[in-house]
Amino acid sequence: MKRLIIVFMAAAIFITQVGISLAMLDGNPRQGRFLFRQECRPCHMENPQREPAGEYLGPDAKRQAEWNEVFENVQALPCYEHWEVSEELLIHIHTYLHQGAADSPTPERCG
Ligand code: HEC
Repeated sequence: MKRLIIVFMAAAIFITQVGISLAMLDGNPRQGRFLFRQECRPCHMENPQREPAGEYLGPDAKRQAEWNEVFENVQALPCYEHWEVSEELLIHIHTYLHQGAADSPTPERCG
């Protein structure tokens, strides 16, 4: 009986996690693109316009799973403190980058 409860709890936690990660990607990709170009691109382009400059980043710079990793732990990014994007808008940037990822059906370059 105890074991059954543990299995049930584990399943419940798993289902919740999956639910959260799916729910995370219902942002608006057009708004995400706008925010990305405004907030991220100045440092992440071939001819950076802001310091400290990072490498080129656009949807096609990473695979979908890699973008998920980035957004699961955004605080760990070296540039996080430079961001001026509020937490609730990150979902849009995540959705935009995920949709155009290198292994997505529609890879997109941010040019
Ligand atoms: C003030 C400049 C600046 C801004 C603004 C900025 N970054 Fe960065 N970012 C950097 C630098 C510098 C690094 C470290 C060098 C590198 O890895 O490109 C970095 C690293 C990263 C990395 C890790 C690089 C990799 O290949 O895994 C990611 C992902 C990232 N930034 C995403 C973003 C996102 C998303 C935004 C916008 C919300 C953003 N950055 C805004 C400067 C910036």
